[in-house]
Amino acid sequence: MCGIVGYIGERECTPILIEGLRRLEYRGYDSAGIAVLESAAGESSLLTRVVRCRGKLANLEALLTEARPTGRVGMGHTRWATHGRPSDENAHPHKHGSVSVVHNGIIENYLALRAELAGRGHRFSSETDTEIVAHLIDEELKAQPQVGLREATRRALGKVQGAYAIVVLSDRTPDVLVTAKNASPLVLGLGEGENFVASDVPAILPHTKRVMFLEEGEIAELRRDGIQVIDLAGRPVRREPRLIEWSAVMAEKAGFKHFMLKEIHEQGRAVTDTLRGRVSIEQADALLDGIELDPQTLKKLTLIACGTSYHAGLVGKFLIEQIARVPVEVDLASEYRYRDPIIGPGDTLLAISQSGETADTLAAVKEAKAKGAQVLCIANVVDSSIPRACHHALYTHAGPEIGVASTKAFTTQLAALVLIAIHLGRRSGTLSSNAAAELIREFMALPQKMADIIGLAPQIQVIARRYGHARDFLFLGRGTQYPIALEGALKLKEISYIHAEGYAAGEMKHGPIALIDAEMPVVVVVPKGPGYEKVMSNLTEVKAREGKIIAVATRGDQDIGAIADEVILIPEAPAPLAPLLTVVPLQLLAYHIADFKGTDIDQPRNLAKSVTVE
Ligand code: G6P
Repeated sequence: MCGIVGYIGERECTPILIEGLRRLEYRGYDSAGIAVLESAAGESSLLTRVVRCRGKLANLEALLTEARPTGRVGMGHTRWATHGRPSDENAHPHKHGSVSVVHNGIIENYLALRAELAGRGHRFSSETDTEIVAHLIDEELKAQPQVGLREATRRALGKVQGAYAIVVLSDRTPDVLVTAKNASPLVLGLGEGENFVASDVPAILPHTKRVMFLEEGEIAELRRDGIQVIDLAGRPVRREPRLIEWSAVMAEKAGFKHFMLKEIHEQGRAVTDTLRGRVSIEQADALLDGIELDPQTLKKLTLIACGTSYHAGLVGKFLIEQIARVPVEVDLASEYRYRDPIIGPGDTLLAISQSGETADTLAAVKEAKAKGAQVLCIANVVDSSIPRACHHALYTHAGPEIGVASTKAFTTQLAALVLIAIHLGRRSGTLSSNAAAELIREFMALPQKMADIIGLAPQIQVIARRYGHARDFLFLGRGTQYPIALEGALKLKEISYIHAEGYAAGEMKHGPIALIDAEMPVVVVVPKGPGYEKVMSNLTEVKAREGKIIAVATRGDQDIGAIADEVILIPEAPAPLAPLLTVVPLQLLAYHIADFKGTDIDQPRNLAKSVTVE
């Protein structure tokens, strides 16, 4: 999610770090900083100088024009906030004692570690989970300086749970840069008399094409003249460098043709990050970052959102009502704000927004707040306008979403809504501890199933070519799959410009059936579960009118093949979780149809990523 770049060599490193960060800024970030080992005037030893600030890279560059650190070892970071809002204090690098750290990812047990460190007298200067890592490594290095930075880092990481890519430097060990990775990307670049590390290839591409990708749980020690890799147990690892053939543009997209495709692929990781530290099978519960929802006092929950986020809200209604038996009203923010909504003290409104900046959603939040309601949100961009206007925010950890058509933001919003449903269900007594534990177990298995579905892309590409010439598409679903039908239709029209309508399958006979003929592809989302038989009988009505059926169904379904022209079979999941899976083939179908038609997928005509006007 964050951008990282590090350098050790013979050249002045500040320009290399800034240029590297600039190549990562396409993702959009909220703060930036660098740490450079420089020789203090009149001193022979090196001291780390950290310069960092809130805002875009340009703000950091402005600061650097006044006082630019000079040195040949350093690291830089652009931050996408997860723990702690974007501010000067929370910007990376974080320094404690002699140790500075930049970090991408989430330290899951940071509250426990922070409490432990505080018990040993540590004081903290930021709200971040990253600062904990600097404290832990500094403690190890102080206790036994002779072990060196790599070993101190290895020992400290033994206490850390979670996802991280970190780079560490210390003015006690000026000849090394240490880096480690677990579940966050990290690439090492090999140069002549210099070496690099980065979160993403574009940052180092101008300097070298010889790279090594670190694997989970590996630590690398970079010196000017070489790199050594070990695992968390301290055993040496042999890794052969490879040559990157990507152009700069391809590298930004990590080799994917479009950001949208990259983001579709990132969904498993994004959902894992959204669940991280928030679910516990042992406690059979979901935690919401300090948001306490009490079903005894919650008479009704009002969800408001726009676009794709509104579709997440429609799924949320099903989830929360079914699992927690709390009544939920869902509305489009643009409608809600103008209908003098009945809301006031004692009521709760939950806004859903990827960007946190959508004008209609923000206005609806303000309206409800002014009337005395408690206002909460699910958002992806930390400290954006909507979370700031709300009493509490539950952040999805999707990372920056660049493609205008929302994909990973949607599935992580669904994940956040499942968390809320479990949280409420446990407190209302409608979800037993066994049922919650089972649901959470299945929840944690979803990312693997998402990856499995992404593996169906070649089949979906063939279907896309076969039907990509159609003028209209109909998408059908029932229950939780009805909003998924709406979302499938929205994805298709957004990026392929084909007219598409999503409909509740049971409503088909009240109108859209008039459109069905041999030219009309009908995409139906029909996983095994509640409503399956009903949808199957709707399909016979489509078939009777010669409609072409493309079905998303559950593996092992013996009947669907007899009625559908195309069948995309996906893994099974419990009904509340199925939308996180069924939407993936629809995203891929829209993507491949648009790609087949050659449209501008990442920036479709007339659309904007963040709609900050009415
Ligand atoms: C725009 C985007 C959509 C998004 C909608 C709501 O229309 O193109 O992808 O779903 O805004 O945005 P939000 O950031 O509030 O979720």
